[in-house]
Amino acid sequence: MTTYQVGYFVGSLSSTSINRILSKALIRLAPPDLEFVELAIKDLPLYSPDYDASYPPEAAALKAAIADVDAILFVTPEYNRSIPGALKNAIDWASRPWGQNSFNHIPAAVIGASPGLIGTALGQQSLRGVLSFCNARQMTSPEAYIQFSHEVFLPDGEVTRESTAEFLASFMAEFRDHLVRVLTVLPR
Ligand code: FNR
Repeated sequence: MTTYQVGYFVGSLSSTSINRILSKALIRLAPPDLEFVELAIKDLPLYSPDYDASYPPEAAALKAAIADVDAILFVTPEYNRSIPGALKNAIDWASRPWGQNSFNHIPAAVIGASPGLIGTALGQQSLRGVLSFCNARQMTSPEAYIQFSHEVFLPDGEVTRESTAEFLASFMAEFRDHLVRVLTVLPR
């Protein structure tokens, strides 16, 4: 079986992150030919062009990790109707130095959870604009705006509501088909 490496960002630094729980659920429900590695953001310094000549180890490691994966999944909260600063900072690091954009042509998908009804819709819209500029090959459909509940999502990523589990499994199956399609035309 051919397997595909998926790097995933969790756009939250919170020790109680609901988006981290969502990422665990997505990994549990993903097709068996997807393997996952987290793209860590918490130790990155704030990006400055002053670093372009010599990236610090944490940022160099992020770019190396992205180079090693076939696709990227963004699992993120919405902060003030936009992208959390820590995630935007990681994207800025990976997109530079100029001419060495790590996201160029990479298959990508976006999903997120919030306690509220709109389920990160505006944060995702903001992220999509950034990824579009970074030339990532985004899955545009299905979209997934998850209203989080601790009754439905258990801490280890088990999803207790069948319809939610089915929806998330279908989202990951669609992502798998999307990344295979992109890699067929744009091999990494
Ligand atoms: C939030 N929250 C939030 N929720 C939302 O639906 N839309 C929003 O714009 C915001 N804005 C926002 C800003 C900041 C600075 C914080 C700390 C929180 C609430 C947010 O959805 C909630 O805290 C989630 O639990 C965040 O996800 P994680 O960190 O638990 O994964």
